[in-house]
Amino acid sequence: MRICVVGLGYIGLPTSLMLAANGGHVLAVDYNRALVDTLVSGRVTFEEKGLPELYERARVNIEFRSDYPEADVYIVAVATPYIKETHKIDPQYVCAAVRNVLDACPDGAVIVVESTVSPGTMDKFVRPVVAESGRKVRLAHAPERIIPGNMVYELIHNSRTIGADDPETGSLVRDIYATFCQGEIVLTDIRTAEMTKVVENTFRDINIAFANELLKICREDGMDVYEIIRIANKHPRVNILQPGPGVGGHCISVDPWFLVGDYPELTQLIGTARRINDSMPEFVIERMGDIMRENGISSLERVGLYGLTYKENVDDTRESPTLQLLEALERRGQSGLVQVYDPFVARDIAPNQHHDLDSFLGAVDMVVLLVGHDEIKQNAAKLGRIPVLDTRNVLDLPRRYTL
Ligand SMILES: NC(=O)c1ccc[n+]([C@@H]2O[C@H](COP(=O)([O-])OP(=O)(O)OC[C@H]3O[C@@H](n4cnc5c(N)ncnc54)[C@H](O)[C@@H]3O)[C@@H](O)[C@H]2O)c1
Repeated sequence: MRICVVGLGYIGLPTSLMLAANGGHVLAVDYNRALVDTLVSGRVTFEEKGLPELYERARVNIEFRSDYPEADVYIVAVATPYIKETHKIDPQYVCAAVRNVLDACPDGAVIVVESTVSPGTMDKFVRPVVAESGRKVRLAHAPERIIPGNMVYELIHNSRTIGADDPETGSLVRDIYATFCQGEIVLTDIRTAEMTKVVENTFRDINIAFANELLKICREDGMDVYEIIRIANKHPRVNILQPGPGVGGHCISVDPWFLVGDYPELTQLIGTARRINDSMPEFVIERMGDIMRENGISSLERVGLYGLTYKENVDDTRESPTLQLLEALERRGQSGLVQVYDPFVARDIAPNQHHDLDSFLGAVDMVVLLVGHDEIKQNAAKLGRIPVLDTRNVLDLPRRYTL
């Protein structure tokens, strides 16, 4: 069976490698030629634990290309952003990729949309594209749950959901994922699979918003939110996540908006949670101001933001709290002042960006730790006695401040 994966980003690349490493004949497609050239030359395109080794195991069974080949099954893993004004899903990449597939596929092919989509997207946007083409294909939705930083492990061990129109298509798709997935594979209908994925990320967003609201209450009255959450979580049915400088990434900060966009009257809790999490970069700026005043630091030029990615030990900066914070500073007319550094981000994406920890620390009198990369934990001693706002609560330092 020929399997074609369309979109070789953070999700499509590891998935296609995993399929090929487990015996699948994989045609891996991305319209970004530079990305395909890099993969053809033998290198992976982003930093991820175990990915280079997986690439080596997959190599003999995978072909990277930028045109759309004939295959039996297509797995579409392209981006699904939301439209800022309406908060609704922007389905343009999924629809374009499905059109590309329909131009190339034989009748009877299965198109699996793996991208996260809002409930109803397959009916509202994908089926009309298929109908317009006059092609006879079968559709399925198989959303992904893996976490950057532990993708290879989670691809194998996570449970997954497959939504299909009929049990035969569901079983066929399940058998493909079962070549590498050792977790439970639940078969359901497409709408349920769409909604389930969005619900999972929304649950986490609301839980983090709760932690962030607790943090604000505790800051107001001098209580230790981390200690309170630690103790509360000893209750067998309580599991509060950690507060922090905001929520970023391509999933948790995006998917709940799909529900707010489609059901504005019914998403009071979900919308409020999103807004609480989006308020956190402003909260960090207020806290920075307090600590600067307390330490006689008058210029933001001597303040350093450590970490640009949205989570620790990955290179993905999409929607990151640090980028949100830089935008908030810009809105206050304070852009381009702070120093920034992230060991995982080699390209320049912000003003005053350093590419070496020592040069960064040499330029600042205060650090705001926004991402708990292992690098800073291992080099905590280098922070010496300068004030550090530890928004992730990960360092043990003499002059540490928390949010
Ligand atoms: N990144 C994550 O951690 C994560 C986790 C779970 C689910 N998801 C979901 O998976 C989906 C993909 O996310 P991602 O992070 O891999 O996105 P990405 O932006 O990293 O990758 C998408 C890739 O698709 C390519 N592409 C887009 N349209 C194409 C087309 N028509 N033909 C060929 N190639 C095309 C782009 O060039 C890009 O390389 C999204 O829906 C996302 O919400 C992501």
